[in-house]
Amino acid sequence: MKILVTGGAGYIGSHTIVELMKAGYDVLAIDNFDNSYPSVLENLAKITGKTIEFEEVDIRDKAALKKYINAHKDIDAVIHFAANKAVGESVALPLKYYENNVGGTVNLLEAMQEANINQIVFSSSCTVYGEATPPVDENAAIPVAQSPYGNTKQICEEILTDQSKACDLKVVALRYFNPVGAHESALIGELPIGVPNNLVPFITQTAIGKREVLTVFGDDYPTPDGTCIRDYIHVVDLALAHVAAINYLAQKKYTEAFSVFNLGTGRGNSVLEVIKTFEAVSGVKLNYKIGPRRAGDVVQVYAACDKAANELGWRTQKSLEECMLSAWQWEKAIASSSVN
Ligand code: NAD
Ligand code: WQD
Repeated sequence: MKILVTGGAGYIGSHTIVELMKAGYDVLAIDNFDNSYPSVLENLAKITGKTIEFEEVDIRDKAALKKYINAHKDIDAVIHFAANKAVGESVALPLKYYENNVGGTVNLLEAMQEANINQIVFSSSCTVYGEATPPVDENAAIPVAQSPYGNTKQICEEILTDQSKACDLKVVALRYFNPVGAHESALIGELPIGVPNNLVPFITQTAIGKREVLTVFGDDYPTPDGTCIRDYIHVVDLALAHVAAINYLAQKKYTEAFSVFNLGTGRGNSVLEVIKTFEAVSGVKLNYKIGPRRAGDVVQVYAACDKAANELGWRTQKSLEECMLSAWQWEKAIASSSVN
């Protein structure tokens, strides 16, 4: 099978390409390098031993996207990662998010329909659940989104549902919890541009000396140690779930045209637990302080993962220790190279 990966130079896309190729799939990738670097492709070639079939395409450019897809009509399925993902930026620049995340998805679906490509795996997010009672399963209510970014994920899931009813499209939407960590080679990982918004890159950048101090956003939450709880999932486990989703589509295991799965570990860890685990595996004492709560943070969220285990035959294998160690090895690799 031939799989097109949009956003293939990005954090999750690049790890997924490795696992798809390992599983024997042919992979094509597109990206506009809005939040990634061409050097990722060289590092992917080092990991896989193969040149990545890549073209620079912006999914907002409908004509260019259609031209590309029409020239590759033998694509069997698309994994759609390309999107902007910074929650805070989406509040300041909502139109950027609606144009790229929603408009880009519409362009992609149009191009796929024209080329008779009828299988798609979509990157959704646990953010669609807002403040739900964990463990959160796929039937949890979807409240009004708390950010334009979150809204784009809700809207895209609705668009995909509608399109799957209107034509012969099969959809797997994957709601990721908190992806962290990096490939064991330390050749690919998360490359946040500017000051990181997310906890783990902020921890590793502080440990390496790029940031002076990590602020823990609040320790007065109603949790055992007072800090927020999340479900941190290793990016390689997440990548393997995409291979499972492609197998699920290929083997027609679905019972409905639109299927949705949570991708998490099922385990919740607090911010302080993450920091302590990082310190233990890295041997670095982290400079952190307790600060005020961050607006918009939910107290605790972690996934119920039974559906993915039962239907996709997938569950996570890696521990929080492996997450933190690989993130640290990646940060050290960035520091010793010219990337970023
Ligand atoms: P990322 O920014 O590392 O990867 C996205 C890639 O898409 C980047 O390489 C970027 O350059 C590319 N891209 C963006 N707009 C594009 C466009 N118009 N045309 C072509 N390429 C474009 O992000 P990621 O962490 O790998 O996230 C991948 C997907 O997973 C996104 O849809 C994101 O919303 C979703 N997601 C991410 C997280 C997370 O915490 N990382 C959690 C839940 C969901
Ligand atoms: C984790 C915890 C912070 C930074 C975001 C998006 C979500 C999804 C995943 C895309 C929280 C705390 C963080 C810091 C801290 N992305 N923290 N100091 O907010 O759970 O989810 O990424 O879909 O949509 O909202 O992840 O890594 O930002 O925060 O104390 O410097 O770490 O308060 O409790 P979050 P995060």
